[in-house]
Amino acid sequence: METKLVVIDEKNIDEEAAAALKEAGSIIRDGGLVAFPTETVYGLGGDALNPSSSKKIYAAKGRPSDNPLIVHISKFEDLEKIVKEVPEAARKLSEAFWPGPLTMIMEKNDRVPYETTGGLDTVAIRMPNNKIALGLIEESGGYIAAPSANTSGRPSPTVARYCVEDLSGKIEMIIDGGQVGIGLESTIVDLTAEVPMILRPGYITAEMLKEVLGDISIDRTIIDSSSTEKPKAPGMKYRHYAPKGDLMIVEGVQDEVVAFINEKSREAAAAGKRVGVICTDETMPMYNADVVKSVGNREDESTVAHELFKVLREFDDENIDVMYSESFDDSGIGQAIMNRLLKAAGHQLTIL
Ligand code: TXA
Ligand code: MG
Repeated sequence: METKLVVIDEKNIDEEAAAALKEAGSIIRDGGLVAFPTETVYGLGGDALNPSSSKKIYAAKGRPSDNPLIVHISKFEDLEKIVKEVPEAARKLSEAFWPGPLTMIMEKNDRVPYETTGGLDTVAIRMPNNKIALGLIEESGGYIAAPSANTSGRPSPTVARYCVEDLSGKIEMIIDGGQVGIGLESTIVDLTAEVPMILRPGYITAEMLKEVLGDISIDRTIIDSSSTEKPKAPGMKYRHYAPKGDLMIVEGVQDEVVAFINEKSREAAAAGKRVGVICTDETMPMYNADVVKSVGNREDESTVAHELFKVLREFDDENIDVMYSESFDDSGIGQAIMNRLLKAAGHQLTIL
């Protein structure tokens, strides 16, 4: 299949862009697939109410079919058409955070096929905060199932180039809307639990949810990396975000971390390996390795969220064998950053 690539500037949806969105919408209505930007990561979209579209999504990503998809909507009124009932918490949270990087899980009704929910009676729903995404949802009939637009297991794409790398030839269209704003996937909160529960940390933090709901719990497997329990979001149990090289996270006081990573880098280089270091603006000049990349600024950790997946992909482009990364505080957006980084590292963590 030939994959059509179109470029749209989110800040200037002119006539040409509107026509491209219409064309993309008709591809999805006809059961085809389109990769598109959201504010979190790029999504791989198909008609959420069409079982065959969901099957195609799983096939294009190489994703296990027990891992449910998120349904993207563009207006709140469309929510009640696909769930049994809209919980009060959903009204409050949508008012506070939609459109935005928050996914809510509710009980589905019969319009949502089991192919989309991986066989579950619940459905994950979000309204993305990106004009291209919202326009595409409108043109597609209102409901787009979209996982991140990467091959299963690889870091989620935050630029269109990596959608092309993973999905070219497998889907009808890729919309290039530039680098996404946030860079990590949405926060997932399960509203079917007695106390709403965070299943995946993201840009909307536990503190922010607590302010709206009063009470919030967190799936323990997210914060306890040694937990042997199964995560409640099926997708969280899979190896994810994995770069091609071996990644180790190092935690400790800054000077000791730098010294340890430099020592390990020397050893690996002596053994003939290409070594990469993932650091921050603050420490960048202190490292010696084949490739040293800053992932952002510690003063503003949203810069780290923004660059993390892109940097992981760039190390793949550089054919790096071994990588060392600094670690981040487990609070605020840092919780989402560490969750993704630990997964990328297959939980290899050295605490000094
Ligand atoms: O930011 C995002 O959420 C991006 C963009 C494209 O919107 N999408 C995304 O989708 O990250 P995906 O498929 O890569 O991750 C969806 C996660 C998986 O971990 C899946 O198991 C979980 O959501 N999930 C979906 N439906 C669920 C349900 N009914 N119950 C529990 N977990 C669910
Ligand atoms: Mg994903």
